[in-house]
Amino acid sequence: GDGVFKYYSYGEWKKSSSGKAVPIINPTTRQPHFKVQACTQQEVDTLMDEAKTAQKSWAKTPLWKRAELLHKAAALLKEHKVPIAHCLVKEIAKPAKDAVTEAVRSGDLVSYCAEEGVRILGEGKFLVSDSFPGNERTKYCLTSKIPLGVMLAIPPFNYPVNLAVSKIAPALIAGNSIVLKPPTQGAVAALHMVHCFHLAGFPKGLISCVTGKGSEIGDFLTMHPIVNCISFTGGDTGIAISKKAGMIPLQMELGGKDACIILEDADLDLAASNIVKGGFSYSGQRCTAVKVVLVMESVANALVERVKAKVAKLTVGPPEDDCDITPVVTESSANFIEGLVMDAKQKGATFCQEYKREGNLIWPLLLDNVRSDMRIAWEEPFGPVVPVIRITSVEEGIHHCNASNFGLQGCVFTRDINKAILMSDAMETGTVQINSAPARGPDHFPFQGLKDSGIGSQGITNSINMMTKIKTTVINLP
Ligand code: G3P
Repeated sequence: GDGVFKYYSYGEWKKSSSGKAVPIINPTTRQPHFKVQACTQQEVDTLMDEAKTAQKSWAKTPLWKRAELLHKAAALLKEHKVPIAHCLVKEIAKPAKDAVTEAVRSGDLVSYCAEEGVRILGEGKFLVSDSFPGNERTKYCLTSKIPLGVMLAIPPFNYPVNLAVSKIAPALIAGNSIVLKPPTQGAVAALHMVHCFHLAGFPKGLISCVTGKGSEIGDFLTMHPIVNCISFTGGDTGIAISKKAGMIPLQMELGGKDACIILEDADLDLAASNIVKGGFSYSGQRCTAVKVVLVMESVANALVERVKAKVAKLTVGPPEDDCDITPVVTESSANFIEGLVMDAKQKGATFCQEYKREGNLIWPLLLDNVRSDMRIAWEEPFGPVVPVIRITSVEEGIHHCNASNFGLQGCVFTRDINKAILMSDAMETGTVQINSAPARGPDHFPFQGLKDSGIGSQGITNSINMMTKIKTTVINLP
């Protein structure tokens, strides 16, 4: 056809009546690579109506049948891992191997949701009245979990497939319908993922995928009266959505400034490899990336030397070659990162490598002797730049961690487990990892941010529960 990927509504692939397309720029070539439909508000209205209708009968579909379809979709996702990964390479410059991992991890997540869902949702509660003062045993209360209705899923560019299915699968198993708005970069990978759900044979209208410009359909989607729940992962937009959304449950995973605190007794080799993995995988474009290293002065030189040696081994180049460091997602993102680097330079940070950039490709950079007056001490670069702040007490490290607006994850390196637990209790973040870099997975672990990092908790079990409501029936005996 005209080379514009169609959007998905009522079990069909459709062209938008707008006649317009949104280009997807390949971060590596900086040239348009794919195009998707620029959908209209009217098209959103239509698929919202369809989602509302489809949800009613889906909620009545036996749980085991819902699970069966999800298992089918999971298998298809794995079968289609190569073409999905190809899209991820071209649209978001994810290194080739990591792109395949994302597709496989997504398949695993979908089957786990199906298994977990049949168990969680297959169980209700039975209560009796005479435990509360003044009551006889004359009331029997039955509880079960019912779906919320229509769920709007908005994943970010860094995991357009995985962070889409982490919303879609729990919602579906719980009996909800889905309207997916993928990020523009990553939209074609997401459409391919939806194709797998299509092939699995879900009922028409239950899942739709709408593409287009945020300026045209963004607010329209998030403020749509048919939407009963929003699950969003991304940046500041999440705060704006929270202010505009109606009285509906929200699941938000926003930014992070994950601190990595290194104590004097830490295994420095272990810490260094986790800083490199945590700070530089997918070129630092993860909300759970190590975004600031806080190291005790007495071991700082030894640690920085180790990290430097490992950074020197990172390969830099195109995602097709499976390089460790690949171009960041957009030119404006690269410019933002450069702004943080220049600010640090001007204020006297020590550059462990020379700053180098070609187009959207930024070479990995470790900045030592970063101080609190530098922007990089507080802002998230979402790029391959890791700042090191030297501290003289553990309290100083905890203080820096807690002074952030963010509170996603943090990590502590020490051989003293008692100290580690005390630090975990003191750090105001949703998760603290002991002796490992921050990470969301395994995907059934709870995942949540405090403060500006989010609302609610994710992870398979929490997401299923969040996407349901308790319903009770009380039997009153004579
Ligand atoms: O940036 C999104 C976040 O969910 C990261 O996931 O698996 O890279 O820790 P992960």
